[in-house]
Amino acid sequence: MTKPIYILNGPNLNLLGTRQTHIYGAATLADLDKRTAERAGKAGFSTVFRQSNREGELVDWIQEAREAASAVIVNAAAYSHTSVAILDALLAVDLPVVEVHLSNIHRRETFRHHSYVSAAADGVIVGLGAQGYELAVDAAVALVQSRATKAS
Ligand code: DQA
Repeated sequence: MTKPIYILNGPNLNLLGTRQTHIYGAATLADLDKRTAERAGKAGFSTVFRQSNREGELVDWIQEAREAASAVIVNAAAYSHTSVAILDALLAVDLPVVEVHLSNIHRRETFRHHSYVSAAADGVIVGLGAQGYELAVDAAVALVQSRATKAS
């Protein structure tokens, strides 16, 4: 059976749809869950969609993904800019990793321009709002399929 794509969301993303909507858009986390599940489903994949405000919990889920997932999509939110622990966890994952941010972090405050997560990501999608999550699913599916082709 095909393993699910893990979609992991960091701190404050539980507030999507009510938090700084001029930056992050009107879509809620539940909307993103639904949209990504539908997108993955069309390609024959299921999703595991989670959010945590705790760094260690995100690290635990990334470690879980090593065995349980076919790919990881991660929006580590503010931890993207601070967390070596999340970077190290992702570096230990031998799976496609796609980083996503709703906002264009490069057009915002300087402290958001650097993401530790990017050093472990196959690709990064920024600034495209909720659509970026769907594109991240497309990218993850393509990366999983291309690895499977190379391995066969
Ligand atoms: C974010 C960008 C981060 O800088 C910020 O801390 C977030 C959300 C985004 O999706 O645009 O919480 O990751």
